[in-house]
Amino acid sequence: MIITVDGPAASGKGTLARRLAKHYGLPHLDTGLLYRGVGYLMLEGNCALDDVATAARIAQELDVSKLDNDALRSDRVGEAASQVAAIPGVRVALLKLQQDFARQPGGAVLDGRDTGTVIAPNADVKLFVTATPEERARRRHIELAARRTPVEYCEVVSDIKKRDERDSGRAIAPLKPAPDAVLLDTTGLDIEAAFRAAIEIVEAPRAGRTRP
Ligand code: DC
Repeated sequence: MIITVDGPAASGKGTLARRLAKHYGLPHLDTGLLYRGVGYLMLEGNCALDDVATAARIAQELDVSKLDNDALRSDRVGEAASQVAAIPGVRVALLKLQQDFARQPGGAVLDGRDTGTVIAPNADVKLFVTATPEERARRRHIELAARRTPVEYCEVVSDIKKRDERDSGRAIAPLKPAPDAVLLDTTGLDIEAAFRAAIEIVEAPRAGRTRP
């Protein structure tokens, strides 16, 4: 079974995808980490984020075994990732790796922005996880405070809206729900409730119900 989980920043898609993967015993790919890897190396190398040739080369040479690095989780790297993700050469370079992951025997869970639309359009289940920008900013604000990186709440809201706009407005593989994706709005849901709702969506056809 292939499950795709797409959605905007801080919607809870990553946590849900990990929980679903564990529940169904499937391998999980956080595709955002690939773009974060490229963004991180661009920043480390002091490269301009609109240097398309360098970004594409870094994406082609990306060593996925080196992505398990806390430094990739920062908002600065997330912002850089969003910028390099709009470069066609970067997306093309990372395409096959993601498609191969989705097509492995037994299936997989992938989360990101275009996993249901571009990477695995034939996925068995597609979730589009969202929440209001204010709710996503609230969650991110708490997370940043816990990491002792205090930022003003209104700054977090504005960053989230800016990232949404860039990820949804780019010409190539923009963030948007696949026509057959099921929308899961996690505003007002804690992670347990969101997980139960996700399981409901995955299980609906097996229980003879149509997906909501
Ligand atoms: O999910 P994330 O915050 O780790 O993703 C970081 C950025 O990477 C996001 O703002 C846009 C880009 N991205 C993408 O364009 N396509 C994906 N499938 C995943 C992430």
